[in-house]
Amino acid sequence: MSSPRSHLRVACLVVAVLSCAGHAAAQNLSRPETLLKKMTLDEKIGQLVQRAGGRQRALNSRLDDAELERVRAGGVGSYLHVAGAEPLGRLQKVAVEESRLGIPLLFAMDVVHGYRTIFPVPIALASTWAPESEERAARVAAEEATAAGLHWTFAPMIDIARDPRWGRIVEGAGEDPFLGSRLAVAQVNGFQGGNILRPGSLMATAKHFGAYGAAIGGRDYNTADLSERTLQEVYLPPFYAAARAGSGSFMVAFNDIAGVPTTANRELVRGTLRERWGWQGLMVSDWGSVGELLNHGVAATRGEAGVLALDASVDMDMVGGVYADDLKEAIAKDPARIKLLDEAVLRILRVKEQLGLFDKPMVYHDVEREKSALLSAEHRESARAVARQSMVLLKNDNKLLPLNPDKLRTIAVIGALATDGRTMIGSWKAQGREEEAVTLLAGLTAAQPKLKILSAPGADPRNADLSGIPAAVKAAKAADVVVLMIGEDYDQSAEARSRSDLELPVSQMELARRVLATGKPVVVVLTNGRPLAMSWLAEKAPAILETWMLGTECGNAITDVLFGKYSPAGRLPATFPRTTGSVPFYYAGNPTGRPADPDLAKDTVRYHDLPITPLFAFGHGLSYSAFGYSDLAQSTQSVGPGDRIDISITVENTGGVASDEVVQLYVRDPVASISRPVLELRGFKRIELAAGARKRVTFSLTPEQLAFWSTRGQWLVEAGRIDFWIGASSADLRANGSFEISKTHTGTAPAAALPTRVIVSNIN
Ligand code: NOJ
Repeated sequence: MSSPRSHLRVACLVVAVLSCAGHAAAQNLSRPETLLKKMTLDEKIGQLVQRAGGRQRALNSRLDDAELERVRAGGVGSYLHVAGAEPLGRLQKVAVEESRLGIPLLFAMDVVHGYRTIFPVPIALASTWAPESEERAARVAAEEATAAGLHWTFAPMIDIARDPRWGRIVEGAGEDPFLGSRLAVAQVNGFQGGNILRPGSLMATAKHFGAYGAAIGGRDYNTADLSERTLQEVYLPPFYAAARAGSGSFMVAFNDIAGVPTTANRELVRGTLRERWGWQGLMVSDWGSVGELLNHGVAATRGEAGVLALDASVDMDMVGGVYADDLKEAIAKDPARIKLLDEAVLRILRVKEQLGLFDKPMVYHDVEREKSALLSAEHRESARAVARQSMVLLKNDNKLLPLNPDKLRTIAVIGALATDGRTMIGSWKAQGREEEAVTLLAGLTAAQPKLKILSAPGADPRNADLSGIPAAVKAAKAADVVVLMIGEDYDQSAEARSRSDLELPVSQMELARRVLATGKPVVVVLTNGRPLAMSWLAEKAPAILETWMLGTECGNAITDVLFGKYSPAGRLPATFPRTTGSVPFYYAGNPTGRPADPDLAKDTVRYHDLPITPLFAFGHGLSYSAFGYSDLAQSTQSVGPGDRIDISITVENTGGVASDEVVQLYVRDPVASISRPVLELRGFKRIELAAGARKRVTFSLTPEQLAFWSTRGQWLVEAGRIDFWIGASSADLRANGSFEISKTHTGTAPAAALPTRVIVSNIN
């Protein structure tokens, strides 16, 4: 509420700001610098404090009086888990009009794959292999979130994940740093609406810097213990790419790397990210991670923890309250620390300024805009289009899919997940609503009114109750075809949801066994947040469609694919292992001295009890059509520093059905001073091809994209031969060639973070 006192304060502030502006102009100070000069120690610390509106993941934007008093006193820089144009507008007014310096608040939320219109979960978005679709999804999320009063999202999560036991693999782009880098850039651009922050934009957060996905054993929060080379070549490239794309903020990871918790990792955060990469944005801790430095055993007191984090250049303390409660005393002990504090304050104020909050704090609080933006028809249509692109057809024996409704009378839709709207919208649902999600049963029923649809839950992934299976078997027997939706529910992957077992939940396996035993044609529609080890199912089920969790338009999108309205073309962004015991299993391993050989007569790097191939390879995905690859050509045999090589191929849709194809370029350095991976992705392009159409795809590479992290700790491009392949997956390579790098020279950046130019032209 505005009171006469508050008006007085505003008036004083205006005078103060005006006189200060004149003074500042004389000294050429920026607004953040000017403000800094006027701030008390408490006000400075206040800017570093992020508090939760609600409890974790719950939302409460209407704060109590004590909280509002804290805002008036300048004790808060940001709130998270809040939303709503109107309540946040009122809160912002308190900060701007009733606090001494009128510094606006930053409002944040985990807007990960949608705000109210929910897009597919990130691993599904990554399965599109279409950065433009990732960007579109992020843009829609940003349009809705900013209309609802938010300035800042804690996304994208760009952690490379090579162990699917890790529950958070669902939140990222999978196992590959090149794919991950492209998708990181696309999301940063989508959220921020361009490469730079601009007023009205949603600030992105590249998280969780730097090796959260390498948690040992896939146990969330666990130590990462990895070589400097793997860190530089595999885990850091998406972060480099996000920094270059201008991500306004970064978040440090909870875990430690070889004993150094990232929240206190001065060398990595201040050294690599800020000094070497030149990134100067806002670094936020993860939830309470400053205080957790005590649990890590690197700080004896909260004050020490705060100093360690501040020294590493972690600017804002999310929720833990260490900066709020303990930093002042720590600074009093050593006033030299004021400099660290000032730097952090400046970085936060700069972000607020870039977002336009000083000049137009109310831009984010237009209630009418909020009403029309959320869940608009256009946003739903985008969500459906991207959901269609996200599905991966893993198997399709005898062309069971697509289904022809003219040849069917009765269809059984089996599985508790087929009616589970909550699972469809996945974890990190922001303001997504389960009742607004189209389930598989609802989508299919709406699209096929002439079909008789029998539905039965059968069994639920959340429990071991098998009592519904007989009814499901009965429905299957009475149908011409069965659509069996099984897998994990939304809460079986995500944060703190690591699993020691990658098999399907027991009840789901049993349901599958019994339904498949009917002998009816069964299309398995998988819902899950991670690669599963499902060897039995992969052998027995004639058709398997991986759908992950597809968001608000889930059921409509799956129905489009099942009935051939859209040919699936998604590709796996992570390898599916045959058994849990064989993880981590990823395509880009080193060759070793005894490369895996299918023949058990030799002693090679393999499990004795498993084939050497994965269940489904990285990049795998079938289509309703077929594609021919021909006329491979390269622009040169040799490249030196500053040169490029163009590698071209013609792709023809030979299968008679319009469909997308994802063309993939892999490279290998066969002889180098260190052993290099057997394959590394360095280019991909999803192209649309009408039946019978042909397109020429040209990938343009630089030698720097072949650099590796040398034994001397720098990027090195070594002279010598490079082999390359173009194909439809890492296990379906169709054409190959090689070229020379003519001169050894140093590289400047993580090789996998560098983009490959791609040109697509039609051939008549
Ligand atoms: C903890 C998670 O690790 C992080 O990803 C998220 O952004 C914060 N909580 C805030 O919800």
